[in-house]
Amino acid sequence: MSAVVVVGTQWGDEGKGKIIDLLSAQADMVVRYQGGNNAGHTVKVDDEEFKLHLIPSGILSDSTVCVIGNGVVVDPGVLISEMDSLADRGISTDRLQVSDKAHVIMPYHKALDKLQEESKGDRKIGTTGRGIGPCYTDKISRYGIRMADLVDSRSLSARLDLVLPYVNGLIEGVYGQTGFTKDQIVAEMAPQADRLRSFVTDTSVLVNDAIDAGQKVLFEGAQGTLLDVDHGTYPFVTSSSPTAGGACTGTGVGPTKISKVIGVAKAYTTRVGAGPFPTELNNEIGDWIREKGKEFGTTTGRPRRCGWLDAVVLRYSARVNGLTGLALMHLDTLSGLDQVQICTAYEVDGKRVENFPGDIQVLSQCRPVYETLEGWSGDLSKARSLEDLPENARKYIDRVSEIVGVPVCIVSVGGRRSETIITEEPF
Ligand code: IMP
Repeated sequence: MSAVVVVGTQWGDEGKGKIIDLLSAQADMVVRYQGGNNAGHTVKVDDEEFKLHLIPSGILSDSTVCVIGNGVVVDPGVLISEMDSLADRGISTDRLQVSDKAHVIMPYHKALDKLQEESKGDRKIGTTGRGIGPCYTDKISRYGIRMADLVDSRSLSARLDLVLPYVNGLIEGVYGQTGFTKDQIVAEMAPQADRLRSFVTDTSVLVNDAIDAGQKVLFEGAQGTLLDVDHGTYPFVTSSSPTAGGACTGTGVGPTKISKVIGVAKAYTTRVGAGPFPTELNNEIGDWIREKGKEFGTTTGRPRRCGWLDAVVLRYSARVNGLTGLALMHLDTLSGLDQVQICTAYEVDGKRVENFPGDIQVLSQCRPVYETLEGWSGDLSKARSLEDLPENARKYIDRVSEIVGVPVCIVSVGGRRSETIITEEPF
């Protein structure tokens, strides 16, 4: 049995796209299990750069079947334009399948996302504005529209009759804006439904069959553990479950079928959007990391907040995801610093805190306790084994693994697929 989940261990943007792309070359199937086009992966193949938001980056490998699971929220217009732009670059999307149970991001979800953010003033979450939260809200409150409804015009019509009075009540009554008409929505979405119909199926059957047949299946998490709606820094979170359990609920696969969980972590920490961030560096080192690591959002272009590696966060991620291995990314970015720091614990009111706090009020008072290690320099991108790295870089990797209690199975030393050290094969 070979079903591997890849999760982000921090606040997203850890470099999961590269790891997924790398492992997709060996995988028979890649399955996305949550989130939507709020995510963004930049994948470099040779010298070509691909930015993907919704379609699993496995699509870039020749024969991999790519699945958008039931836990994902799908903006049909975005999906179609991503399919078109891949086709323009000679990449077939025939191997793509979309769950009939995945919820659809409707035009009013995008409007509500913006209205809700505006109404929060300086307490806004800093969402990507893609309609993610309102779509998941409707899913849970049973006002959602699923892919199966979208591709069946009678079902879409019946659902809209039920949903629109409620949605327009919010848009008009609460926010004082003009609502949406059924005709307007159907006119926009009917051509999208026609285009996507043949891709929509019961993907739980496909994924379970693949695992049962001994195929290599990769579950691709978007965002990261600290953006998880349950386990993240609530309310500064996304509305889905990026943690490993989400791979089961978001695809219709039982936990007994998962063989490994690989946590992707940057060698430092970044965050976009608002919310507490104990190791944030509001200084020239933070700026240096941002520039050198090109820390600007794939989806929104926003500059990311940067800070030292937070091992309290990684230990927490190891626990809530049951990590079996760590992929340590951007080690090359830290090259050139005299010293590097790892946050090993927090301090609040003079007391040492070892476990990541559930309450963000407490988190915002946490001061990092650092361990300082000697830095390293030089170009790491040619390293293909740990022995090729400078001694201090190796010491850093060993120390991270020791503090977190999880072996490092992959080290990334550059953006390209080839610029990677694999110490333990994931499949
Ligand atoms: P939403 O997912 O658009 O609702 O945004 C909620 C929070 O999650 C905001 O702070 C976003 O910046 C953050 N977020 C959503 N997707 C990503 C991602 O792919 N990487 C990093 N942060 C994200």
